[in-house]
Amino acid sequence: MEVQARGKLVEDLASKLGPNAVLAGADIPDRARTDWSFLPATAPFAVFRPSSTEEVALILRSCNEAGIAVTPQGGMTGLCGGARPLDGGVGLSMERMVGIDSIDSDGMMMIVRAGTPLETIQKAADDAGLFFALDLGARGSCVIGGNLSTNAGGNRVIRYGMARDLVLGLEVVLPDGTVLPMLNRMLKNNAGYDLKQLFVGAEGTLGVITRAVLRLHPKPGCVCAAMCVVTGYDKVLELLGTARRNLGPFLSAFEVMWADYWTQATERVPNAKAPVRIGEGTHVVLVEMQGLDEEIDGARFSAWLEQMFESGVIGDGAIAQNLSDMADFWGTRDAAVEFANPDVIGPHISFDIGLPIRRIEEFVNRSKQALKDELGCHSVHYGHVGDGNIHIVAWVPGAKIQPLANASRVVYEIVGDLGGTVSAEHGIGLLKKPYLEHTRDQAQIELMRRIKRCIDPALTLNPTKIFD
Ligand code: FAD
Ligand code: LAC
Ligand code: ZN
Repeated sequence: MEVQARGKLVEDLASKLGPNAVLAGADIPDRARTDWSFLPATAPFAVFRPSSTEEVALILRSCNEAGIAVTPQGGMTGLCGGARPLDGGVGLSMERMVGIDSIDSDGMMMIVRAGTPLETIQKAADDAGLFFALDLGARGSCVIGGNLSTNAGGNRVIRYGMARDLVLGLEVVLPDGTVLPMLNRMLKNNAGYDLKQLFVGAEGTLGVITRAVLRLHPKPGCVCAAMCVVTGYDKVLELLGTARRNLGPFLSAFEVMWADYWTQATERVPNAKAPVRIGEGTHVVLVEMQGLDEEIDGARFSAWLEQMFESGVIGDGAIAQNLSDMADFWGTRDAAVEFANPDVIGPHISFDIGLPIRRIEEFVNRSKQALKDELGCHSVHYGHVGDGNIHIVAWVPGAKIQPLANASRVVYEIVGDLGGTVSAEHGIGLLKKPYLEHTRDQAQIELMRRIKRCIDPALTLNPTKIFD
């Protein structure tokens, strides 16, 4: 598009929406140029900051008519480049569409605007005596529109499911500016296709989410957590099996840190505490239970742990005695957020693999060895093992440019062999686009393309993401 035409669009939208809604040229902040994927910053010609659904519709319609690529942007914490705008395109930031519209305690739901930070939503639910179950390390920076568009997983999927399981309704604007008011509030609604789900996990390629009706749960009456040192992956699976049987639906997290991750986190990240001691071949499991009653369910949790000690499933262990211990446990689990810091690891490659749970250890051993032998890569492993989801952080020490393509080839070949997925929860974006066909066959990718072309025939909404 010609420079003049771009200038006219910026001028036109600034006059209709006010100067606050348009950032252009040098006013575009760095944070709008790329996300947490480590992909380099881009040069969009503008970032639009609408404050209402109608403004989103006007921006999308104008860009669609002018053939300009628009990339929706939430908290920019995505790890695959989904919110990274195109050079010469525009960003559509949701940062002014913030707030809780309403909370319905009887219906156990709340209506929120898409730019509202996850942590704000969690707090609002808590203040209302309820609980919003989605939780991830980026909670302070990511926003609900981004969480839904990536179908985020996080720490409590084992109990509450992924973002798509926590949404009852959505308001969405299509690329041509059509508003779809799908703010359903009913738990059950089988009147035709469940269209909202098409936009969950679509990474901003089909529509812009402007509002969401979120499903809330009762606030847990008590929370218990323990760090358990377990020797051998078979014992990790045994611990998971008995946790499921003994804690039932109260089991709210089952996170595993391999010894390589534990060492890296606790020795290099200043705030990551080490409440247990690890040894050769051990895993550290963070088990969390959300119960109803401290006395009854706390006793249930302790009795189960004791049984696990006595039967030798757990070696060393620590139970959280208070909220500060609990925060420390999660702090160590979430320490990967600091790995990009040059004093910890610096530039690295991260993977988000899904696998049948039983095959995870084989995957870890094979990929660690292959990364080392073929590329000289170090690697550490951790993740939501209760959900069959493991993260690898891999790096060649001291290399400013990491061997992304080669490491991906090495890892995804093994993922394919073991029947896994190249993305369990982070999405595809730009970074994982070359590997989509490891997990989806041509017929599925072609159907995705047809859906995209049907909803966005001019291909102006977040083009180049997920697939071409
Ligand atoms: P962005 O990065 O801004 O955008 C993500 C995608 O959604 C982009 O494709 C963008 O175009 C699109 N998008 C954004 N807003 C909208 C909208 N309103 N309408 C349509 N499309 C939109 N993910 C997990 O699943 N589990 C984890 O445990 C987890 N932990 C993390 C920990 C850290 C420290 C970090 C940095 C990231 C983590 N993530 C995790 C990645 C995760 O995908 C994001 O944190 C989060 O879901 C993205 O939200 P965001 O608001 O930052 O979205
Ligand atoms: C985590 C992110 C990276 O689980 O998904 O820490
Ligand atoms: Zn994760």
